[in-house]
Amino acid sequence: MSRIAYVNGAYVHQRAARVHIEDRGFQFADGVYEVCAIRRGVLIDMDLHLERLAWSLDQLRIDVPVSWRALRIILAEMVRRNGAPAFGLLYIQVTRGTAPRNHAFPTGIAPTLVMTVRTLPAPAYAVLQRSVAVITRPDLRWRRPDIKSVSLLPNVLGKQEAMEAGAYEAWLVDDEQRITEGTASNAWIISREGEVITRPADRSILNGITRRVVLRLARRLGLVVSERAFSVAEAKQAREAFFTGTTAFVKPVSRIDDTAIGNGEIGPHTDELLRAYLAHVEAQAANSVPVARR
Ligand code: PDD
Repeated sequence: MSRIAYVNGAYVHQRAARVHIEDRGFQFADGVYEVCAIRRGVLIDMDLHLERLAWSLDQLRIDVPVSWRALRIILAEMVRRNGAPAFGLLYIQVTRGTAPRNHAFPTGIAPTLVMTVRTLPAPAYAVLQRSVAVITRPDLRWRRPDIKSVSLLPNVLGKQEAMEAGAYEAWLVDDEQRITEGTASNAWIISREGEVITRPADRSILNGITRRVVLRLARRLGLVVSERAFSVAEAKQAREAFFTGTTAFVKPVSRIDDTAIGNGEIGPHTDELLRAYLAHVEAQAANSVPVARR
């Protein structure tokens, strides 16, 4: 099945989809994005993603490209036209628009709205529960990573370094030797005392939607949860470590740099949280009307 993209009002075959070379997303990374999982044709936690998109746009003073009602219709149509996959990712990007290159905001232009859908193998527990290694690297990003901007160069470089080091993710470290987050995920540890720790969602991290859901699930499971910063040294002494994100779900960590975490298998609390998160996704997929049948 061919992939259908959305570009500024038109549904087009992805290979024919185009934006202008003077789009400010291309020239200045002057834009924001969201990645939302699709399960059984249902966009998971869509309201939370749209809420964050609205907030990112507002922070950068980029206009909302179409009404929120229209945006929901386009989202549903994109899922439908791409075959309402059993599992996939929907990508939304909004840039300030197209104008002759000049740093200051141009006036009188419309934002660019682009969407794509990618179909992927359904997330099987047997695969999700496999632990991966992470490396630590200095956090080189600007001081507003809480905005989901398409300016991701330090994230790209960090992820590439992780791959080259045989790891899956890089955890970024601030000037006080505390972990901020992963290049495309939020970082978590579980202390020897069983405290579930993740950095507070201040301006130093993206407030992940998966992070928000997992915090809620952890509290519901009766775990002791602390939103506080933790150091690299503390992470290396943790009993369990994992990271969360739309693409990663709840991913156990077996190694931070050269330090093994646990016995290399998913730890009991991480496993509890992964299962709870999977149940959350499956329940939404089962209880919402798939977009294709609305
Ligand atoms: N990234 N932190 C960063 C820097 C991220 O890029 C992401 C997500 C997250 C997790 O957020 P969420 O739970 O809302 O997916 C945390 C997306 C998936 C990406 O860039 O592909």
